[in-house]
Amino acid sequence: MDVKTVGVVGAGLMGSGIIETVARGGYDVVAREIDESAVAGGKKRIERSNARALERGKITEEQANVENARITWTTNLTDLKDCDLVIEAIVENLDMKKDIFSELSRITRPEVILASNTSSVSITALAAATERPDRVAGMHFFNPVPVMKLVELVQGLQTSQQTLDDLRAFAGTLDKTVVTAKDTPGFIVNYLLVPYLLEAVKMVEDNVASKEDIDTAIELGLSHRMGPLTLLDFVGLDTTLFIADVMFEELRQPKYAAPPLLRKMVTAGYLGRKSGRGFYEYNT
Ligand code: 3HC
Repeated sequence: MDVKTVGVVGAGLMGSGIIETVARGGYDVVAREIDESAVAGGKKRIERSNARALERGKITEEQANVENARITWTTNLTDLKDCDLVIEAIVENLDMKKDIFSELSRITRPEVILASNTSSVSITALAAATERPDRVAGMHFFNPVPVMKLVELVQGLQTSQQTLDDLRAFAGTLDKTVVTAKDTPGFIVNYLLVPYLLEAVKMVEDNVASKEDIDTAIELGLSHRMGPLTLLDFVGLDTTLFIADVMFEELRQPKYAAPPLLRKMVTAGYLGRKSGRGFYEYNT
């Protein structure tokens, strides 16, 4: 697969990280958001992340400028028509994703891989919305995308081995390590992570220990970068609840049943860092 230009659909938390990472990898990027205010949001997230990368000496000012110049922003999906690979990272809504995949299948060249960053939607279902199910796969990045080294590749029922090989080679050029999983809810990381995060919420609910002590125990006792409640705030309580609900719906296993406290916090708007309050409070 000869990739020069990558289309990225969606510039939210994950999408903007993917745009930044792909541009830093030396590719031209066509980044599509729904409207001008969403475009501005994506640009701002990339600006902030670039500033952090600069501060920590990961890139130079000149590299940041080159990287930004590689990104073309649009609100029009048809502007992705000449892309050599497209990565979708919109909200976790099956119908919206299916519409995007069906449209991308119509406008891009037939051999172009259409990948999804989804953490919960079935790749087989997205592939079925296209005319090229063998060229559709999951490409699941982790937050923060420029920093986290892992990419999970997900093989839908009809995804070809060639597609996985092409994506593995592409991910390697972004300095990511690839693991592959079947099209099963949670893939590898969330299969393990979601029950663990839900258990941590239950521990708070049951007053087993304070949230600070639960986090400290995991950080120092297991050498994790973040304890589970800090990680929940980082990932987003709404995102975690959404993934847990999809997994519960699909697998019907109690380990994926969200505790009432998580649902109540999401209802109250305590979504984590992004809303300024989750298990902890943040200055937004
Ligand atoms: N661009 C490039 N590099 C950056 C950067 C950026 N924007 N920001 C930070 N870095 C680099 C730093 O230079 C540093 O690199 P080094 O180790 O080589 O010096 C490294 O990233 C860590 O940065 P810092 O030490 O300065 O920052 P923190 O200590 O504040 O770490 C963190 C921040 C990376 C978020 C860390 O806390 C962490 O790894 N947390 C866990 C994150 C996690 O588990 N993510 C997965 C979530 S699950 C998910 O995404 C799946 C979904 O489906 C739910």
